[in-house]
Amino acid sequence: MRSKKTFSGLLFGAFCLELLVSFSATGQESNQFKHAAVVTAHPEASKVGVAIIKKGGNAVDAAVAVQFALAVVYPNAGNIGGGGFLVYRSKTGQSDALDYREKAPEKASRDMYLDAKGNAITDKSLYGALASGVPGTVDGMVKAHTKYGKLSWKRDIEPAIELAERGFPVTAQQASELNSHKERFLKYNKKAIAFVKNDLWKEGDLLKQPELAKTLKLIRDNGRKGFYEGTVATAIVNSMKQTLGVITAADLKNYHAVWRKTVSGKYKNYTVISMPPPSSGGIALITMLKQVGDYPLNKWGFQKDSTVQLMVEVERRAYADRASYLGDPDFFKVPQAALLNNDYIKSRTDGISFAKATPSSEVKPGTLPLYESEQTTHYSIVDSEGNAVSATTTLNGSYGSLVVVDGGGFIMNNEMDDFSVKPGTPNMYGLVGGEANSIVPGKRMLSSMTPTIIEENGNLRMVVGTPGGSTIITSVFQTILNVLAFGQDMQAAVAAPRFHHQWLPDEVFVEKGAIDDTTRAKLESKGYKITPREPMGRVDAILVKPNGELETGADPRGNDKGLGY
Ligand code: GLY
Repeated sequence: MRSKKTFSGLLFGAFCLELLVSFSATGQESNQFKHAAVVTAHPEASKVGVAIIKKGGNAVDAAVAVQFALAVVYPNAGNIGGGGFLVYRSKTGQSDALDYREKAPEKASRDMYLDAKGNAITDKSLYGALASGVPGTVDGMVKAHTKYGKLSWKRDIEPAIELAERGFPVTAQQASELNSHKERFLKYNKKAIAFVKNDLWKEGDLLKQPELAKTLKLIRDNGRKGFYEGTVATAIVNSMKQTLGVITAADLKNYHAVWRKTVSGKYKNYTVISMPPPSSGGIALITMLKQVGDYPLNKWGFQKDSTVQLMVEVERRAYADRASYLGDPDFFKVPQAALLNNDYIKSRTDGISFAKATPSSEVKPGTLPLYESEQTTHYSIVDSEGNAVSATTTLNGSYGSLVVVDGGGFIMNNEMDDFSVKPGTPNMYGLVGGEANSIVPGKRMLSSMTPTIIEENGNLRMVVGTPGGSTIITSVFQTILNVLAFGQDMQAAVAAPRFHHQWLPDEVFVEKGAIDDTTRAKLESKGYKITPREPMGRVDAILVKPNGELETGADPRGNDKGLGY
């Protein structure tokens, strides 16, 4: 371990006085912490999480504080107008899964995004109020806090209010994202909104959100009623009326997050604990890890041809199963036990040949084009007692539906696009689905979010997750293998270039730097189509090292930050 000295005095904002930032002897910021660690998509949110733990809060208090802080400082995915999943593991090894995924409104219907000829009108499920599901985040946070929180609800939410009122300096990446969405924001919002300036955003400009601060105060003072009833609910319903949305006051009042049983399975001597349906992530991840577990990946080499081939082939099969068998378990009988049956899992690898690629059409029929953008966000937390939270939360697309609730100051999701708008037609991520994921009022749309916790011999080993739409599952899969199969440290594992296959389209998508030229040539000669693409995922993770120290991995693809003490 690098030697480090800890000192205080670095001021980063309201909570900086609470923080001790660790630096190595070389002056480089350390990513190793003795007591607690928080990794999120924005430095301000990470600071909030650490400050809450230092005030005596536990991992769930920190998660609640981080979730609300991200709604302020990371508005393209942090949210109160969206939903998410949270996987919790207590210091004594009990695990729990919270589903605060959005639901289809009561007025939703199976064909609501189809034209008269029965073709999908894609933009309709992507932009504007009709794209929104009933938001789940606020009820999710209330339920998490009620069951596990230690500090008061008010205390957990206060830092977000302060950030919204005081404002925070946008990063260069955020300035550029806000600028590139300006026209679309103007199209979907008739009144002035905090995210649009007359001139362009520059790095360091202060983003203040007084309307959002008012909403957060109502949530602080009234809990779930502060959002699902009263002024905020009325503002959401009015917003819907003005922009052809269908969410009603009854939809909001009736929304309830649910506790579910985590899915778990073995990879070598590790136990993988993850999110069950309506996420597809946990089942797919466990399946793929089990399938590669008996092969000598390390001997074959990191991102070498046999390694990549095997990983791509198991990804192809997992995504084919996802399309047919996975949906909201409250509406569709998900064959979970069968999908996680060891014999079934092994049988899915039977047809894999190392001589050539298996065409996806032989795994399941179908062909499709690809996607647009992916915005979700993940945070990983370990508190000073060893409790852990892995949570992934989303508006779906970047800035969701782009509709900012007038008077509420927050963005509504466009999660309805995660349903199979038309069976066989790809969604924004190029994913196809069938009946299991068709639109039904009150149903939750299938997700790929994969918040995951890993144990080794009954002890906490890793907390991991990522945004990235359909690439979430494969990014988590690779990050876990980077550490457990290839021995990388947490930061290297998170930063390593990634590749992705999702059955359809039948292509291996590769980030810059993933898969060297020789390996690529070998794979192409076996029939794999390799397609370069933009960065995928932003993995934020924490590794518990053998000496008990916490090592953070914050994805350099964004402004992500690991902090702790
Ligand atoms: N909205 C992305 C997902 O839930 O998978």
